[in-house]
This record gives sequence, C-alpha cells and structure tokens, in this order.
Amino acid sequence: MSFFRNAVWFVKGLQEYTKSGYEAAAKHFVAADLEVNLSGRSFIVTGANSGIGKAAATEIAIRGGTVHMLCRNKGRAEAAKQEIVERSKNQNIHVHIVDMSSARQVWEFGLSFSQNNALHVLINNAGCMVNQRELTDDGLEKNFATNTLGTYILTSALIPALKKADDARVITVSSGGMLTQKLNVEDLQFEKGTFDGTMAYAQNKRQQVILTERWAAQHRDIHFSSMHPGWADTPAVQSSMPSFHAKMQSKLRTEAMGADTVVWLAVAAAAVKQPSGLFFQDRKPVATHLPLAFSRSTPQEEERLLAALEELALKFKP
Ligand SMILES: NC(=O)c1ccc[n+]([C@@H]2O[C@H](COP(=O)([O-])OP(=O)(O)OC[C@H]3O[C@@H](n4cnc5c(N)ncnc54)[C@H](OP(=O)(O)O)[C@@H]3O)[C@@H](O)[C@H]2O)c1
Repeated sequence: MSFFRNAVWFVKGLQEYTKSGYEAAAKHFVAADLEVNLSGRSFIVTGANSGIGKAAATEIAIRGGTVHMLCRNKGRAEAAKQEIVERSKNQNIHVHIVDMSSARQVWEFGLSFSQNNALHVLINNAGCMVNQRELTDDGLEKNFATNTLGTYILTSALIPALKKADDARVITVSSGGMLTQKLNVEDLQFEKGTFDGTMAYAQNKRQQVILTERWAAQHRDIHFSSMHPGWADTPAVQSSMPSFHAKMQSKLRTEAMGADTVVWLAVAAAAVKQPSGLFFQDRKPVATHLPLAFSRSTPQEEERLLAALEELALKFKP
C-alpha cells in the first residue's frame, strides 16, 4: 500500500508541485487579491529567516504589515531582518529568538506575547526533516518536537492574542508529503522499528493538517488553514533531501512561488471566504487524501493525538 501511495503521489507531484505546476495554476490567480494595505495588522512568521518563511515575511512587510520573526539563530535572523527592511522600507520588523523544538521556550514566548498583544495572523512555517533519530535537550524526538509539538504549543499559547484581533488567521505550512501517511498515534516519537526521517516528517505534516481541522472546529472566530507550498528550492530541501534536490533542481519552484499561497491565505479577503480548516495548494482547497489511499484516521485516533499533545505540552508549561 505504501509503495502504491508513494508512486501515485510522486506522479502527482511532478505535475502539480513543480515550477510548471505553479505556472499552470497561476494563470487562474486574481492579482488584485494581494493588493492590500496591511498597516496596523500584525503577523508572526516562524522560521522567517530563510526560504518560504522569509519570502512570505518580505511580501507582508512590503504591504505594510508588522512582522514578528520567530527564529532560533540570532545572526541569521538579524541578517534576514535587515534584508526585509531594505526591500520593504518597513521598519516594523521584530526578531524574537525562539527554538521551536524547545517546548519551554515556545510556551514562554507565546504566553508573554498573548499577555501584551493582539495578533492578526500566525504563520506556522518553521519546520525540519532530520534524517537521523535525534533527541532534544528535553528528550523529545527532534522532528516531532519542532513540527508537531512546537506548532501545537505556539498556536495554543497565541489563541488569546488571536482572539483579541479582527479577521484573525492561522496558516500552517504543511507538506503534500503528508498524503503518503495515515496518522499513527501509537508511535508519535518514532521509537519503534527503523527510523525513517522522511516518514517522520510526513507524519508530522499529516498531524498539522489534522490539528488545523480540529482547531477550526474549536475556535470559530479564527480562520485556520494548512497548505502545501509545492516543491521549492530552499536550504531545507538542499540539506535534508540532497539527491531529490540534485535530480529535481531545474523543476523546483522559487521560494516566492512556494510562499505565494501562504501570503494569499494570510492577507487576501478571498481566502477567508473559504471555510476554516481546509488544506490549500496554489490558492485552492485540495483533498487531504489520495484516492484509494486508506489514509483516513478515525475521530478516536484524532482525539488521542490531541490528548497526547495536550498532556505532553502541559509538562513544559511554565
Ligand atoms: N521547500 C519545499 O519544497 C517544501 C515542501 C513542503 C513543505 N515545506 C515546508 O515549508 C516550511 C519552510 O521550509 P523551507 O523549505 O522554506 O526551508 P528553509 O529555508 O530551511 O526554512 C526553514 C526555516 O525553519 C527554521 N527552523 C527549523 N527548525 C527550527 C527550530 N527548531 N526553531 C526555529 N526555527 C526553526 C529554519 O531556521 P534555520 O535557518 O535556523 O535553520 C528556517 O528559518 C517547512 O515547514 C517545510 O516543511 C517546504
């Protein structure tokens, strides 16, 4: 089954996730959707110093939004901030140093931000694919800690800030790779069997899509979306998937193409006309399961995911 799913997914990817897939989809984009003035609106972008996150932060800054860049490395963050300020001529760009794989740091940032601010848009973009099983200082598997638990805690801690804002939105940058996975709630930190980083990453990305659906049902006054950026040429793809990158390089999207749907979901009025909780690709909601893939989880499995994350998150809450 997983061979079938992977093969179907790869063929789909060649058609849709590449630069030519983007160019075909972009013929139907409405340019005016992104002609907005964002002054007075605030945005948090995680992993905003590189790739899709930096491209999205730049587009938001160009339109006058206040951007809070959440990054783990001060040098890389400050260099990216300078570039964004220069390109956008917008001084309202702020750096916050937070390692998304540290549950404590994420709680501390989120709770203190929520106490003092309203937030219009959260963009959960930071992500990683670590190919060897690695533990954080807290003893958590690194991909899970960053992609799933970090995203879960940050979003939970920022709900009060989002509830203070009008037209609040949360966009989570997932991946089409999640289509190859059915939620496995039995082994969230990949303790069993041989570790496979690609599978771990795709499980995390499936979890982000499920979390988005659940948050949408829970918080009706905030608009939630998950999305797939397509295959974009970024440092993460170069370092985590070197052979894929080498073979596909000429077909990959630019970082700006990867960021397009993130920006559209974050700023366009048309985006919030779509129901909350959906998974997007190239400005359109798309299916969260491949045909005949048997990747659907039961409501009970999804409840168990939420309960496990809640229990783990609370262990690190200050
Ligand atoms: N590019 C693609 O084809 C593709 C496809 C599907 C999904 N995605 C998703 O797109 C998102 C952005 O990735 P990208 O391709 O733009 O790669 P990228 O350029 O490497 O950006 C990833 C960002 O996440 C940050 N990050 C990673 N771990 C972090 C941590 N523990 N704490 C804080 N920040 C952390 C990185 O910071 P450092 O610079 O410090 O490492 C970087 O800023 C990811 O969620 C990725 O899974 C990308």
